[in-house]
Amino acid sequence: MATSDRPDTPIAFVYRGTFVHSTQQTALQTLEDALLGVDTQGKVAFIREGKELEKVSQTFGFKPSDVTQLAQHEFFMPGLVDTHIHASQYSYAGTALDMPLLQWLKTYTFPVESRFKDLEFARKVYTQIVRRTLRNGTTTACYFATIHTEASLLLGQIANDFGQRALVGKVCMDRNNSVEHYKETLQESQDETCRFIKELLNKKYPLVKPVVTPRFAPSCTGALLKQLGEIAKNNNLHIQSHISENVEEVKLVKELFPDSESYTDVYHKYNLLTDKTVMAHGCYLSDEELALFRETGASLSHCPNSNFSLCSGVLNVRNVLKHNVKLGLGTDVAGGYSASVLDAVRRTLDASKVLTIQDPAHDVTLSFEEVFKLATLGGSQALSLNDQTGNFEVGKDFDALRINVAAEDGPIDLIQPEKPKILLEKFLNLGDDRNIAEVFVAGKKVVPFTEPKEETTGLEGGNRHPTR
Ligand code: GUN
Ligand code: ZN
Repeated sequence: MATSDRPDTPIAFVYRGTFVHSTQQTALQTLEDALLGVDTQGKVAFIREGKELEKVSQTFGFKPSDVTQLAQHEFFMPGLVDTHIHASQYSYAGTALDMPLLQWLKTYTFPVESRFKDLEFARKVYTQIVRRTLRNGTTTACYFATIHTEASLLLGQIANDFGQRALVGKVCMDRNNSVEHYKETLQESQDETCRFIKELLNKKYPLVKPVVTPRFAPSCTGALLKQLGEIAKNNNLHIQSHISENVEEVKLVKELFPDSESYTDVYHKYNLLTDKTVMAHGCYLSDEELALFRETGASLSHCPNSNFSLCSGVLNVRNVLKHNVKLGLGTDVAGGYSASVLDAVRRTLDASKVLTIQDPAHDVTLSFEEVFKLATLGGSQALSLNDQTGNFEVGKDFDALRINVAAEDGPIDLIQPEKPKILLEKFLNLGDDRNIAEVFVAGKKVVPFTEPKEETTGLEGGNRHPTR
């Protein structure tokens, strides 16, 4: 092909080896000896067979010798999507799991979140959570911050600086909070939400966007929910909240909103269920409520670690999928104690097996391939970001993890060479960040971290690549 027929955007890099991903039709597609090229805008330019190297290199204008070859025990998979995580709760992750939801919020959560008025505290926690999630392969995160506008903007800045794709929500809550200094009036919540959205959008971060965030119905008056529904609609924004997580909470919502037919109906009434809405949990939704999710295009974030840890419930994912409701996985730090989506994958499999144990006649068990899809493409669909990320379709951003199943000093012993499907299954069940050699977001390598160069004499040389 003549040079003039080349695609406009030059190729930045090409990898050759095994790629695994999900498509609309298949939970797991494995491509062995494939060639994947990423252009200088960070998008997947082509994905072809290795034997076509000569032809593809001419079409796209790169040198075959510049191609990076993966080892036999390596593969690329799409980046993990965390559809629900409280960045502001990271400081107490792994503790405080001894109470049910409503008590847990009052005793642990609200007092800690009130500390984010202090920007230095916020900077410390938010830097650590962005680093921790990135090195665990979370290329997209949908974050709850706190009610504080400045600290929430700082979370957006930190995600942008580290190169993570993120939705960031300033939390809104104008009732039922007993903690001093951690509440807002209706007017404050509305004004600060508008300021937060305006200022975050003004930064023009390419991968970080605001999300309208009513904490959950019990924390918000109908008037606030109404305002937030209008703000989201007028600015075409994402929406996130919690729904039907725990029995006591569902009962409370019935008492607080006696005119609504269901918990789902409360949000629907205030225009908070759209195709850009993600609601966490949904353990106790009725089939009618799931039908309303389906009709509006709203999605669910399944957070099994949190559901087990706070003894909230067990979501029947199979039933949600049967209703054609979009669903992704969430860590729900710190109700969930792990910030890793790999943990969410394992707990999702556990939850579906618990349901199978309880009712062996029902076919509810999820396969690891299905859960892999939920953690990647499913998450991107749940966040309505699947036109940009979620798999290796040509034209999408290259959000990817380079996995080394046999990493030195890693947690997996490979006894013999294995096929890609087994390598993926082993990584999902046994792997950790030691197996994640590189993380890419929109074509940019974001892990290993590149630390800013220190003020030096110039003799030390090189960037530091901190270990885990
Ligand atoms: N419902 C309202 N707020 C929260 C929260 O911070 N965590 C969880 N798990 N559920 C909630
Ligand atoms: Zn949550």
